[in-house]
Amino acid sequence: MFYPWWYVSGLTAPMLIAIIAVVHVIVSHYAVGGGILLAMENHHAIKTGNGKLREYWKKHAKFFVLLTVVFGAITGVGIWWTIGLASPLATEILIRIFVFGWAIEWVFFVVELTAAFAFYYYWDRLPPKTHAVIGGIYAIAAWISLVLITGITAFMLNIDGVLGDWSKTGDFWHAFINVQWLPQTITRTGIALMFGTLYVYAHATIVLRDDENTRVQVIRRMNKPFLCGLILVLAGFVGWFVHLPEISRVVLERSAALNVLSGLFVAAIVLIFILAVLGPMRDPKTINGGFAVCLLLFGIAALATGEFVREAVRKPYIVDRVVLGNQILVNDVERFQKTGFLENGYWTSLSLQKQYPQLWHAENEDRFAENELLHYPKEERLAAGRMIFMHHCNNCHAAEHGLSAIGPLVYGKTQTSLVQTVKHLNNVITMPPWCGNDAEANLLAEYLLTLAPNAHPTKENVLP
Ligand code: HEC
Repeated sequence: MFYPWWYVSGLTAPMLIAIIAVVHVIVSHYAVGGGILLAMENHHAIKTGNGKLREYWKKHAKFFVLLTVVFGAITGVGIWWTIGLASPLATEILIRIFVFGWAIEWVFFVVELTAAFAFYYYWDRLPPKTHAVIGGIYAIAAWISLVLITGITAFMLNIDGVLGDWSKTGDFWHAFINVQWLPQTITRTGIALMFGTLYVYAHATIVLRDDENTRVQVIRRMNKPFLCGLILVLAGFVGWFVHLPEISRVVLERSAALNVLSGLFVAAIVLIFILAVLGPMRDPKTINGGFAVCLLLFGIAALATGEFVREAVRKPYIVDRVVLGNQILVNDVERFQKTGFLENGYWTSLSLQKQYPQLWHAENEDRFAENELLHYPKEERLAAGRMIFMHHCNNCHAAEHGLSAIGPLVYGKTQTSLVQTVKHLNNVITMPPWCGNDAEANLLAEYLLTLAPNAHPTKENVLP
């Protein structure tokens, strides 16, 4: 309500965030897991004096640096751009709470980038021991950035602090060390390791096509990190589930789509495990590029569904119990319900004052006379309804046809029933409560009616 709305035509803003975020996590988990593997394996190659192995890891490092630094950094910044536009209030709140966390994160990010470049470009020019240390510095810095960012994303799902109640103290550490932080850090570390090995399988089988001996050595060394990653993922997943806020648990249990997706996530992990055991772990010689790339694709599918479920169970909040999915502070809901939605928003109130000065009474607590607006011409009522929709519903429902369109959801309803739906919005658990007054519910319902598709499936229009 303090910011203008933003609409991405055809796609909707949440979908745009989802796409960029999924691409980003695919790369960023590799940036951590792949970094740990590179550091370990480079160290191993130096220790055993295995020149061929070391040569392979140099090639891997080139691929790694290009992918993670270039792509990872661009999509990472892309996420901040899009969430800043799509969820400005939530982004503002997070920046206020976590500015110190981000400052530390940036320090580690700079360390990480410097170490990554030094690791690759000075590969043959540094004494091996120093080179191994730089690999280690990269791996640790990358993992610490994962730990820091997870503190913030975990807080969005559950604000309950381990050290104290953030909602009472406003303390940074109470926010950062929340009940979801450890489980999510463990899961993400596990995913990073598993994912790192899948990238290595794919890269090594293709690059070392003609060098079976080295290929087998590289692949065999991945067994431990893979299994270790799997155990961490499962352990963290249990912790995540145990520490879900009550509302998220209900959302998870009630939504068929989320149940299917959670099932797919677990199935994909199990499938990857079985394929890895039967393939590269049983006999590293047998796996070829195609098999390894398929394994990586399954990994990407698992990660994408996992992230989707993690995001979806947070509804109706963007930040648990602080900011609702439509950019409204939980603390503001009651006031909005009492005095009206439009008059309490920054941009919407300016618009009302300009358009309806005769209905604006700055001296009253309830400044705008919404009831009067109900007697105005239809176009003006619909314009007001649309303004409510764009600020109150647009974050999750599109006015246009296509993805997340509201039309089909209001199909077949009457204005009276829509008023009831709107006034009891949070009967659907994933929706925020209605944050306006009765007159505004009427205005919105009238506008919603115009969005409903009118194609009734009859014999005439269905059969040729
Ligand atoms: C935080 C996201 C979010 C916001 C904001 C939101 N909704 Fe929803 N809404 C949902 C979800 C999720 C569903 C259920 C999934 C579905 O059926 O598509 C839903 C379902 C609905 C339905 C179908 C309900 C039913 O019983 O079948 C209607 C109607 C609806 N929303 C209207 C609105 C209106 C009007 C607004 C704004 C005043 C709004 N929603 C705001 C997320 C949201």
